[in-house]
Amino acid sequence: MTWINRDITEIGGHRLHPETLMMGYGYFPGLSEGAVKCPIFQTSTFVFRSASEGKRFFELAYGLREPAPLEAPGLIYSRLNNPNLEILEGRLAIWDGAERALAFSSGMAAISTCLFAHCRPGDVVVHSSPVYGGSDYLLEKVLPDFGIRTVGFQAGTGRGPRRQAVETARAQGRVAAIYVETPANPTNALVDLADCAALADELGALQGHRPPVIVDNTFLGPLWQKPLQHGCDVVIYSLTKYIGGHSDVVAGACVGSNAALEPVHLMRTILGTMTDPHTAWLIMRSLETLELRFTRSVDNARRVADFLRHHPSVESVAYLGFLDPDSSDGRLYARQCLAPGATFSFCVKGGEADAFRVLDALQLVKLAVSLGGTESLASHPAAMTHSDIEPERRAELGITDNMIRVSIGIEHPDDLVADFRQALEAT
Ligand SMILES: Cc1ncc(COP(=O)(O)O)c(C=O)c1O
Repeated sequence: MTWINRDITEIGGHRLHPETLMMGYGYFPGLSEGAVKCPIFQTSTFVFRSASEGKRFFELAYGLREPAPLEAPGLIYSRLNNPNLEILEGRLAIWDGAERALAFSSGMAAISTCLFAHCRPGDVVVHSSPVYGGSDYLLEKVLPDFGIRTVGFQAGTGRGPRRQAVETARAQGRVAAIYVETPANPTNALVDLADCAALADELGALQGHRPPVIVDNTFLGPLWQKPLQHGCDVVIYSLTKYIGGHSDVVAGACVGSNAALEPVHLMRTILGTMTDPHTAWLIMRSLETLELRFTRSVDNARRVADFLRHHPSVESVAYLGFLDPDSSDGRLYARQCLAPGATFSFCVKGGEADAFRVLDALQLVKLAVSLGGTESLASHPAAMTHSDIEPERRAELGITDNMIRVSIGIEHPDDLVADFRQALEAT
């Protein structure tokens, strides 16, 4: 009876898939006039049936007592909870097989709330580089102003630099978190997640505090990379990208265990970085087609990458599907990733002017930052998303002036190839 059974996850011993659960999990039509789709609970606050009920709800929300058996948190105020937020979070947790998810007003809100929740002045964060430009600014400029030092290691360089970064960090203070973005924006460089989890275990034994491994999985997840299965603790998404998927919302999420997310939840309640009911509703709608959209984008990206690889004006293509399976990166890709994704960069022969000429000549693919939408986008990381990074560091990280980043959408692949062909051949 779908009227009352809102949390069915199996039928006759058969486990339902995430694709199926996105249509209804966590929603109870009987509570909303039988509406098939969850309405938008566009309200800031909720009416209590009695003062003692309000008291009970606050006791639970503020952790003043343990819940009684079967006691669920009551609805109080939309900064703390809201049906759209709660149903969205239940569905987000399903994809990663996580205990819990928290939704935020942006990917950056998720990242900053998570790091502020887990770090204190005097702590050190070990992180991979490159990361998204905004995350880089947070790590390099904002956290140090709050007394939290950061030590970076280059993605795609194996265990040595990672262990060296941890040694350097340990000499400076308690390592409070290991933060990685893999594949990295915009180079697609990979970081070994299982090795990061092993490092966190070693640090736990040495310093009496196991730092959580926090993974920005925006580029591949949750379909093509599952960091929790490799021993990581928190998965971060910019929901603005593939999960939102239509370039019409800005939102974020943290997904993981109850233990790793409880401090993040507390911090979110106080900072007010949660997402709003309307955005949560839009993301739920997007989740229903996530697998269809992302699969089509991955197929299209393979077609475009193959075309670019053989074009005489293209110097290189940083597409995960082209990794040599016998190289260490190729072996890591096989262990960790389920598909090459649909965002990658390529370098044209020449410099910035040549890259700009191609970008300006595109007719179908839009010249815009961001990624993961139904439409294809192209941008210039060095002059746009990563322009905050000092030029020498940018060059060390492989973000060159002739690099173009593309996010391949769900258009007809022949049309995309035709557009890239004419743009590369435009004089
Ligand atoms: C990998 C990655 N993480 C995080 C973010 C930040 O997300 P948002 O723009 O939703 O704050 C971005 C944005 O481009 C990104 O590419």
